[in-house]
Amino acid sequence: MNEEPPNPTTPRPVSVESRNGAREEEASSISRRLGIPMRGGKKIEPGEIRLVLLEDRIEVWDSTSRRKGARVDFSGIDVRTGSGNLSRQQPLARAISGRSDRRLGTPLSVIDATAGFGHDAFMLACMGHDVIAVEREPLVHLLLEDSHTRAVADPELGPALGGRLRVVHGESTTKLLDLDPVDVIYLDPMFDLSKRSSALPKKRAQLLRALVSEGSGDRELFHIALSRARKRVVVKRASGDPPLMPTPDLQVPGKIARYDIYLPGSSI
Ligand SMILES: C[S@@+](CC[C@H](N)C(=O)[O-])C[C@H]1O[C@@H](n2cnc3c(N)ncnc32)[C@H](O)[C@@H]1O
Repeated sequence: MNEEPPNPTTPRPVSVESRNGAREEEASSISRRLGIPMRGGKKIEPGEIRLVLLEDRIEVWDSTSRRKGARVDFSGIDVRTGSGNLSRQQPLARAISGRSDRRLGTPLSVIDATAGFGHDAFMLACMGHDVIAVEREPLVHLLLEDSHTRAVADPELGPALGGRLRVVHGESTTKLLDLDPVDVIYLDPMFDLSKRSSALPKKRAQLLRALVSEGSGDRELFHIALSRARKRVVVKRASGDPPLMPTPDLQVPGKIARYDIYLPGSSI
């Protein structure tokens, strides 16, 4: 994924293709479900994005891809208990659990209401929390579901996940009202597509920019989240960006991202 979209606020045309004989039917079902054309064997035009179904994964290709495209999966995450990604001292873990909790490791129920490719949701589930990840963009949800399915079947990732992650397709402003209240609601809203700043690593941010139309309603989502969270709402922001809402009750700073914490019942 090296191409930049001509206009970063316009999603790019997307097509789907199977490069594995056994997945033709699945590709055509994705084409129908997402309303995107099948373009088996056809050249990828500049600006176009293609979902390519390979034997064991879905890759995202553009016209610069040669033998491989971008992969969305959890394979880069170190799932050893207590190590780097899953350390209870890392900012995400501390922001979700809260300093007031006696044990940072207390399992909580969490809804990640802006799941994206699900890296944060995946890490939270591996840390022992019960996580529901909600994503509204059909294409992003498809890739998330695919990575989740593969992680569950993986001999290392599956046991680390322990069945604690559920992936849901939908708009969180309504899903949060349908689902039972939980301890923590986590928000990592879509960054401003016209700016380059993002709390996500560069490659994932680039891919999301290409697949997701500019979001709106983050403040409405925040207010609904605050009414459905028993313990806290955690909002991830790029370090240096202003808070989504004034004024967080607590903040956990990190190198790339900062976590703003809002407690239900506070004066927002
Ligand atoms: C910055 S990304 C999240 C990245 C994610 N934290 C990760 O670790 O991969 C934001 C995602 O939230 C989704 N989103 C934004 N608002 C939403 C809403 N109201 N309901 C559901 N999904 C939403 C966007 O489609 C986008 O995929």
